[in-house]
Amino acid sequence: MSRRRARSDVLLGLTGKCADSTRVIASAGWCYRTTMEVAPGAFHLRGALDVDGQREIFARCRFLMDGPVAAYVPVVRGGGKMHVRMLCLGRHWNGKTYRYEPIRSDFDGQPAPPIPDEFRALARRLAESVGMTLDPDVCIMNYYDAEGRMGLHQDKDESERSLAAGLPVVSVSIGDTARFLFGGTKRRDAVQTISLTSGDAFVFGGPARLCYHGVSRILPGTAPPELGFDGRFNLTFRQYDLQSS
Ligand code: SIN
Ligand code: MN
Repeated sequence: MSRRRARSDVLLGLTGKCADSTRVIASAGWCYRTTMEVAPGAFHLRGALDVDGQREIFARCRFLMDGPVAAYVPVVRGGGKMHVRMLCLGRHWNGKTYRYEPIRSDFDGQPAPPIPDEFRALARRLAESVGMTLDPDVCIMNYYDAEGRMGLHQDKDESERSLAAGLPVVSVSIGDTARFLFGGTKRRDAVQTISLTSGDAFVFGGPARLCYHGVSRILPGTAPPELGFDGRFNLTFRQYDLQSS
């Protein structure tokens, strides 16, 4: 596709050698293989995390999602159920009001758990690697089973100042491959289909911050066998305001 261009095979002047098994996930972003700018401000970082980093994120996701403040299937304001299990960290996104809040008032009234420091550090580094800054105070974790999907939408529930500044959304995918749709800032704009595979990151900010996107389908059985699970976890990191909380 002519709009795409490879930025570099190895970012930050490093060797591209993948992290070893003792590295923490905050360091696992060192093993980028390729970064494609798929639209101005939108970057697909293929192979951003090695399998050890993926395993570590997966373990945290499962622990959090099945913990005392468990993931649930949100019902949105039209009354429909989402096709993912969701757990918000840092701030809760209320599917009925499309607003952020400290507690899950649309579900069980429990407080949103904090974002693990390693997650925040990872998101910061991924943003920095494409020349953007992000100090995330929201992480939305979604689990997609084989039937999981998400319709085309804009991420526009963060503060006006954050959106106007183009502070990016940083997305990390673990598990089964997703057919990710990425369009323009208008719903009718052409959409490209991108395969997000396990360990990929996707960053969209600046002029791409309000681009429509979604997940049309999950490809079951495509997760790395070493991870030992079915389905897909996706984490999106955002910064609600210019100063994160
Ligand atoms: C989202 O748009 O919130 C999730 C995107 C994804 O699952 O890749
Ligand atoms: Mn989104």
